[in-house]
Amino acid sequence: MKRIGILTRDCAGINAAIRAFVRSAYACNSEVYGILRGYQGLIEGDLKLLDHRSVSGIINTGGTILKTARSKRFQTLAGQRQAVKTLRDNKIDGLAVIGGNGSLTGAHLLATKYSIPVIGIPATIDNDVNGVEMSIGADTAINVALDALDKIRDTATSLERIFVVEVMGRDCGYIALRVALAGGCEEVLLPEKSFNMKKICEEIVEGNIQGKVSWIIVVAEGKAKAADISEKINKITGLETREVVLGHIQRGGRPTAFDRIIAARYASYAFELLKSRKTDKCVTIKEGKLATIALSKAIRPKDIEINAYYKLIKILT
Ligand code: F6P
Repeated sequence: MKRIGILTRDCAGINAAIRAFVRSAYACNSEVYGILRGYQGLIEGDLKLLDHRSVSGIINTGGTILKTARSKRFQTLAGQRQAVKTLRDNKIDGLAVIGGNGSLTGAHLLATKYSIPVIGIPATIDNDVNGVEMSIGADTAINVALDALDKIRDTATSLERIFVVEVMGRDCGYIALRVALAGGCEEVLLPEKSFNMKKICEEIVEGNIQGKVSWIIVVAEGKAKAADISEKINKITGLETREVVLGHIQRGGRPTAFDRIIAARYASYAFELLKSRKTDKCVTIKEGKLATIALSKAIRPKDIEINAYYKLIKILT
């Protein structure tokens, strides 16, 4: 395999993965072409050669040097054919796709419908790639959110307030659940689980009578707006509430050591797999060892152990 393409989504650790992929390929005399702005750039033929030096100084940076975009055109037959044409015109023998469910669904389609050799590298702060214990970017996102939460706790405690903290996760409560546990929060509202506002407020009032003075409630953005929850709690309990929306700071920033390490291992392995003509697979780590799962399996819904984590959070409050 002489010429390989690489396209990405966006989260911390992706640049470390690009670097590892390019340098692993370079060591085997293969050329890597970076595809700009994801599937959109693939359709538009926006490619650039990534040499050894072009990935210098990016191991510690967030985002993606290749830029990214959501592509509506790639969802159409015409868009897909154009994307395949770009690969054929540029004599690209294989493709590495770094991203979450959406990107990996595109990768699976290229592999199965158009017979393009494709390997997926899981990278998403939502950590919802099925069969993958940890996707690149999830560890950084949790640590960024936790750092913010710890700071908020200082004020919650000092001023005896209730804080409602909105974290990312439109369809997946992974960040909310893990951060609520790591941050010692009292309640967590998830896209996958219904909640009872009246019951939450009763618990707060009861706790307040017993002498409890501050609470942190984590809400995933897909479930509700922090401002609405905060207003309702204030109205029902009469206690002082504030809301904080953490937003995109969770997706960017300096990747943790953990994310850099899995980025290097996943990307280098993805190159090896492409070199040995494997396709339609997603890289992962099982019991500490690099492994693969079928892309068709990786894009199925993942069990993020909602009930077990939720139960533990409630026991520990
Ligand atoms: O899927 C990753 C994710 O970061 C979600 O956690 C979040 O809900 C969504 O993307 C935000 O998307 P956008 O950056 O397009 O607002």
